[in-house]
Amino acid sequence: MKVYNFSAGPAVLPKEVLMKAQDEFLDYGNSGMSVMELSHRSPEFDKIINEAKELLVDLMGIPDNYKVLFLQGGASTQFSMIPMNFALGKKAYYHVAGSWGKKAYTEALKLSKFLNFEPILLASSEEDNYNHIPDFKLDEIDRDAAYLHITTNNTIEGTSIYEIPDTKAIPIVADMSSNILAVDYRIEDFAMIYAGAQKNIGPAGLTIVIVREDFLNENPALSSMLDYRIQADNNSLYNTPPTFSIYMAKLVFEHVKSLGGVKEMEKINREKSALLYDFIEKSDFYSSPVLNIKDRSLANIPFVTVNPDLDKKFNVEAEAAGFKNIKGHRSVGGMRASLYNAFPAEGVAELIKFMKDFEEANK
Ligand SMILES: Cc1ncc(COP(=O)(O)O)c(C=O)c1O
Repeated sequence: MKVYNFSAGPAVLPKEVLMKAQDEFLDYGNSGMSVMELSHRSPEFDKIINEAKELLVDLMGIPDNYKVLFLQGGASTQFSMIPMNFALGKKAYYHVAGSWGKKAYTEALKLSKFLNFEPILLASSEEDNYNHIPDFKLDEIDRDAAYLHITTNNTIEGTSIYEIPDTKAIPIVADMSSNILAVDYRIEDFAMIYAGAQKNIGPAGLTIVIVREDFLNENPALSSMLDYRIQADNNSLYNTPPTFSIYMAKLVFEHVKSLGGVKEMEKINREKSALLYDFIEKSDFYSSPVLNIKDRSLANIPFVTVNPDLDKKFNVEAEAAGFKNIKGHRSVGGMRASLYNAFPAEGVAELIKFMKDFEEANK
């Protein structure tokens, strides 16, 4: 049975990349060793990490005055590292348009009981189950704010911010976990971007950080591992980094480059997601919980049928038919099709066929 993996992460990876990794698995570059067996201080690994960095710089158009870091602990560790490094003595603003943004804010609140800074909830759409991106007024933010934290793609709720607000001198810190390399953002609009790798970049275990040099912390953070400046000064090799995940990320970067880069990925993602959105839009049986069309995510598309019992049935039958991991996040229910870069358009067409048949059998 052909399987289509709609997982929100860890997610589908390009087959070409998996095959290349398989090919090199036992003997990397005639070293007689697997990548997993290479020292992180070896010349072979040095080349891998530096090439991965250069490829990402090239793909995302990262200017010279930004550092690229390969860290661990997932995007969730960034929720604490960000205020710990950048917010002391200041106000830190949070724009919350989804559950992950709320987690980032909640972690900041927790830390602020011990550290001297003030997290502020600038805007939230929680009352409406995060069915839209909430507005905010720039003049509600202190001019000397530490940062404004945003989430560019809300993985669970299926919304995105495409227009990055012009905050003048207030630094924007963005969680880009679920649409990095999928939407062509302008790096200069951000002081820092971070992303867990396990959606568009590679296996879990790697966290990408892109940070402007003049935004880096002046003072040491509480712990060396959680200190951006120490990580930057050591080229992400302060301790043993997730070497295999970095290697896989490098292969994915090469692959994305071979397909034409991020602009091209966005174009393909727009076409791919439009197939499903158009179908849902025309249907009386399926609907999208996202309120505004302009907020709709290209990466994660939640949808429901006419009632929760049919949603349950849909999920069981879809899974059995090879549409894997299409069940919506446990906090929202329904279904969610995650269409990351490596997800094939053909899988969307097959899903739509299945949805038509299901509707026919159950309406
Ligand atoms: C937008 C967003 N932020 C943060 C996270 C948490 O990432 P991690 O599991 O790497 O900590 C996720 C995970 O799905 C996510 O989608």
